[in-house]
Amino acid sequence: MYRTHNCGELRMTHVGQEVTLSGWLQASRDFGSMTFIDMRDRYGITQLVFNIEDDEGLCAEARKLGREFVLRISGVVRERSNKNENRATGDVEIVVKSLEILNASKTPPFTIDDETDGGDEIRMKYRYLDLRRNPIQQNIIFRSKLAIETRKYLADQNFVEVETPCLIKSTPEGARDFVVPSRMNAGQFYALPQSPQTFKQLLMVAGLDKYFQIVKCFRDEDLRADRQPEFTQIDCEMSFVTQEDILNTFEGLTRYLFNTTIGIELGDFPRMSYDDALRLYGSDKPDLRIGMEFVELNDVAKGKGFPVFDSAELVVGICASGEAANFSNKDIKKLTEWMQRPQIGAKGLVYVKVEAGGFKSPVGKFYSDEDLTKWVEKFGAKEGDILFILSGEEEKTRKQLSELRLEMGKRMGLMKEGDFKPLWVLDFPLLEWDEDSNRFHAMHHPFTAPKKDDVSRMLNGDHETMKSLRADAYDLVINGSEIGGGSIRIHDRELQSKNFDLLGFTKEEAEAQFGFLMGAFEFGAPPHGGIAFGFDRLCAVMSGQSSIRDFIAFPKNNTGRDIMIDAPSTIDNTQLDELSLKLEEESSAAKE
Ligand code: AMO
Repeated sequence: MYRTHNCGELRMTHVGQEVTLSGWLQASRDFGSMTFIDMRDRYGITQLVFNIEDDEGLCAEARKLGREFVLRISGVVRERSNKNENRATGDVEIVVKSLEILNASKTPPFTIDDETDGGDEIRMKYRYLDLRRNPIQQNIIFRSKLAIETRKYLADQNFVEVETPCLIKSTPEGARDFVVPSRMNAGQFYALPQSPQTFKQLLMVAGLDKYFQIVKCFRDEDLRADRQPEFTQIDCEMSFVTQEDILNTFEGLTRYLFNTTIGIELGDFPRMSYDDALRLYGSDKPDLRIGMEFVELNDVAKGKGFPVFDSAELVVGICASGEAANFSNKDIKKLTEWMQRPQIGAKGLVYVKVEAGGFKSPVGKFYSDEDLTKWVEKFGAKEGDILFILSGEEEKTRKQLSELRLEMGKRMGLMKEGDFKPLWVLDFPLLEWDEDSNRFHAMHHPFTAPKKDDVSRMLNGDHETMKSLRADAYDLVINGSEIGGGSIRIHDRELQSKNFDLLGFTKEEAEAQFGFLMGAFEFGAPPHGGIAFGFDRLCAVMSGQSSIRDFIAFPKNNTGRDIMIDAPSTIDNTQLDELSLKLEEESSAAKE
């Protein structure tokens, strides 16, 4: 028998019992007559004691053991004289009677502890060692819990879990596809799914009614902290539903997950239109923990002789309130420089400090106290507050102010751990015009339906009308992170065909790529819609972290490499040959 208990289990109630434990050597301390070893497994750490007076040979053996050796020990549980309150097993220790080395270990390349000395690269190369560290292991265990609870909730709501294929034809979700060459079909490629979008719609045509899948998706896009080339979605689709039905179902799932896994009762899920999100926060995924809504000042700031504001399309600002807003002139100078970095590109940052009996502002000479009072009234600002104002071209200025708002949120400590602010962003535009490619792109994806009231405008409208079409498309945002997105879909062949038309597909291209879907719409496709949650992001946000990497057991680095298995890698000529991929030059060189 390897163990009677695990390393996190023993308490005072076990004192006097003979037990067997297996695990890894976390640390050892040698005091001459006594040697202490901390033995670790997934469940915790237990202290072992070897006493020279009890068994000199055993004690000598214990001294030779190195970090990460795998051990099996048997012994008797006793009460510790100096208890460790920080450890669940800290009241007891095991006086070891027998010891067996199950496997030796080389000295690990970094310390296997909550805080490690290992850099990113080395930890990824030895990911299995990094995964032994408690914080990472807890993330992976949390992820598993979340997946299990997701399945429970959705199964309870009558959803059917269906697996869809990984070797498919590309679905355009806006990123590049990863492709897989086909050996049996020379010169042809499968694509790995960016999402199971078309398949889940076909499952609705098939009458499955409610589908879900916790599914790997693949997107060849530039990586960031919240993006991996392969990631996981909780992917869902429902038939005979309105947007309202979907929002309610998935608000329910989100509440259930927060409640069962981290014991948080989520408050309201406010709803905001895409237009309002941009107007009030300059972003379609605002972090509502911060507050600081944008206030537009065109009517009170223009026409007073300050040329920068006079020539601007938009003058807009935020108000920083309270103690944390105590910015010195030096702080403001630094903040201005931060805003002027090329990543943000603001030309300058105007501020107005609201002080007892007056204002302090670098633009004070252009504006009387009476003028500035009007500004302050618009913000509802009070003494001690500070207004930060940007100006320029509308879209750019809102984006810049959104960055400033987030930065202020950080500097003022407004993004509090354990505070979760969900938000539904609704009414996304159906299409967005792309100047570079000179064509419309689907804002969500090409299967998204226009709002019912916009269908006739879509069928008959001109170019400008197209820009104003709105969709029943929605995102779930939590603490400024886009956790999920979905829409009501087109289920009519003609409308789908028109949409491809608007997106610049020729009839032949649309037919070649999506004939199967449009064909299916001709066989009684029910009205349907759905959503997909970014599962990795949900794990990270619920844990108060911004990077999804440590919620994925074996992630890629930021150049898309798995350093541990060294992928991607070249393949040999035979394989290339079989896949009809042998490079021309190599083929001719081989012939010579
Ligand atoms: P969308 O493209 O919005 O919608 O993706 C849904 C959610 O998936 C997450 N996500 C990612 N997470 C990690 N790494 C990535 N590279 C990555 N890309 C996206 C985000 C996002 O909100 N088929 C549609 C859903 C639908 O319409 O039902 C889709 O995939 O959290």
